[in-house]
Amino acid sequence: MDDGAPPPGKEAFKVTPWEVRGKIDYERLQELFGTSPLDEPVKARLRRLLGTPLHPLLERDIYLSHRDLPEVLDRYERGDPFFLYTGRGPSGEVHLAHLLPFELSRYLQQKLGVEFWVQVTDDEKFLFQGSLSLEETRRLGRENLLDLLALGFDPKKTHILFDTASIRSLYPLALKVAKRVTYSTAKAVFGFTPQNNIGSIFFTAIQSVPAFLPSARAGRPVPCLIPCGIDQDPHFRITRDVAEPLGYPKPALIHNRLLPGLSGEEKMSSSAERKDGVIFLNDPPEEVDRKLSRAFTGGRASVEEQRRLGANPEVCSVWALWRSRFAPDPKEFAEITRTCRSGELLCGECKRRLIPRVQQFLGEHARRRADVERWVDSAIVDGPPGGTA
Ligand code: TRP
Repeated sequence: MDDGAPPPGKEAFKVTPWEVRGKIDYERLQELFGTSPLDEPVKARLRRLLGTPLHPLLERDIYLSHRDLPEVLDRYERGDPFFLYTGRGPSGEVHLAHLLPFELSRYLQQKLGVEFWVQVTDDEKFLFQGSLSLEETRRLGRENLLDLLALGFDPKKTHILFDTASIRSLYPLALKVAKRVTYSTAKAVFGFTPQNNIGSIFFTAIQSVPAFLPSARAGRPVPCLIPCGIDQDPHFRITRDVAEPLGYPKPALIHNRLLPGLSGEEKMSSSAERKDGVIFLNDPPEEVDRKLSRAFTGGRASVEEQRRLGANPEVCSVWALWRSRFAPDPKEFAEITRTCRSGELLCGECKRRLIPRVQQFLGEHARRRADVERWVDSAIVDGPPGGTA
């Protein structure tokens, strides 16, 4: 794969499902990956189907790229509904960045009444994270599900593939995928080296399966739409390549940009040494206060300078939070952005306004999480993971 070697004058960056390095140029990344921009004509179509305004994640370009989205919309409008598929690799506690594909899925399920399939890749995180035991990734997997599903899904239309527990349903299709993917393709797509363990080389076959399983079960092609971070796209290039030879429709994709970390990282990630860059869903109110008070912003060196020149929301981790979830009202969001740029809104004040919103969201979330306990296990295909790994 072209790993983002920059054209003259641009910075280097690298994006794979397991690693993000350098400053991401999203336009260039879409060129490298060969995806399509989620541009105005596509958004206009979405508005006709979903109503105006669209969810902030769509309206504010957090979802910025797609593959074949208009095709699944065409089919939907002809009476052939798609299902949603996304997933979670349980490598730690859930934080705000992990919510993006789940929040978009929740919105689409609520608007369109479509089926939702979730994959929990406890196997993946065991294979790829040297320090995690399988017992731990399984435990985290179930905990993480509660956090993610607490956004509010329809239990009757939600199906969970928990890899080590649902393997009976996954394995036959995983084999069919695996037989069609050569080592040299996996190496080119993911950059494997001879040091990678053999399980990690097979894993992508498992991540393809949920895109096909509903079609296999129905005995007819059921279109699939995958909301995911753009860093997951390499997996689905493989999925799309094997789809038609196996007799299934190619899944469509809709990609989000990565939420920046609070310490100025390109990707909010808890694998980073500094957990201060991340807001976990179970952070107590005082942690939210502490982390956000120190968060990296697009502010100037002095108040005087900021009043005079204004701040830069584009690089600000606090503005990214307003943009993604915490200012759902378009008027309020526009006002925050305008006064930030003009220098009227200083960073301290902006943070003081955001902190109680985040605390309130997390408090409500904890209550909704308890409700999910009641149905989560019955939604796991082949039953919940047992006590021993
Ligand atoms: N590999 C993803 C992760 O590390 C988990 C995942 C599995 C996923 N299937 C998916 C993510 C489908 C998005 C869409 O988090």
